Amino acid sequence: MQTTLYASLTANGFLVRAGGEREIPAPILTDFLGHVRRCGNVVVGRRTAELIRATGSPAEFAGINVVVLSRNPGRGVATSPEEALRLLAARGHAEALLGGGAGANASFLERGLVDDIYLNVVPVLTPAGPALPAAPQPADLRLLDVRQLAGSAVQMHYRAGA
Ligand SMILES: NC(=O)c1ccc[n+]([C@@H]2O[C@H](COP(=O)([O-])OP(=O)(O)OC[C@H]3O[C@@H](n4cnc5c(N)ncnc54)[C@H](OP(=O)(O)O)[C@@H]3O)[C@@H](O)[C@H]2O)c1
Repeated sequence: MQTTLYASLTANGFLVRAGGEREIPAPILTDFLGHVRRCGNVVVGRRTAELIRATGSPAEFAGINVVVLSRNPGRGVATSPEEALRLLAARGHAEALLGGGAGANASFLERGLVDDIYLNVVPVLTPAGPALPAAPQPADLRLLDVRQLAGSAVQMHYRAGA
């Protein structure tokens, strides 16, 4: 199972937050939803799942295997990253798309469970926010692609294990 992390950072390295100083630009949301459809699934932390429900966009996830991570089995679909990947493999998926937020990203990165990364840099500097977590050890990434998204956001596509 390949795991692909998709994340949007400010130019000073913080995760762009829903309801924060700047919303994630529309072209990035469109690009993200394209990856969700390509993979047919998305893994999100319980808080991000609640934000998606609250912002009224769940219709865009119709027909998608949405795996919500929660340590409380009553609130989510999987209680660990490993269980999330097992569930998706059992449903025939070859690639899992990890859509955030900070806690869910940390759980996958700390376990070395991320193979590909789409990293968007949004052209804004913000005072504070969550960031991508530390990796357990230095891990080189190979740059597969760079492209400019509308609105001067830039997307890097990396592969781990360069
Ligand atoms: N810029 C971006 O790319 C991007 C993308 C998505 C979200 N965001 C932002 O990120 C923020 C939300 O991030 P967050 O860190 O607060 O929340 P989150 O990562 O969405 O959810 C955290 C929750 O996920 C569950 N979880 C995490 N690791 C787990 C593990 N190893 N096993 C089982 N469950 C696990 C836990 O749920 P329980 O507490 O239920 O156990 C934890 O409280 C928001 O501000 C959102 O706007 C940014």
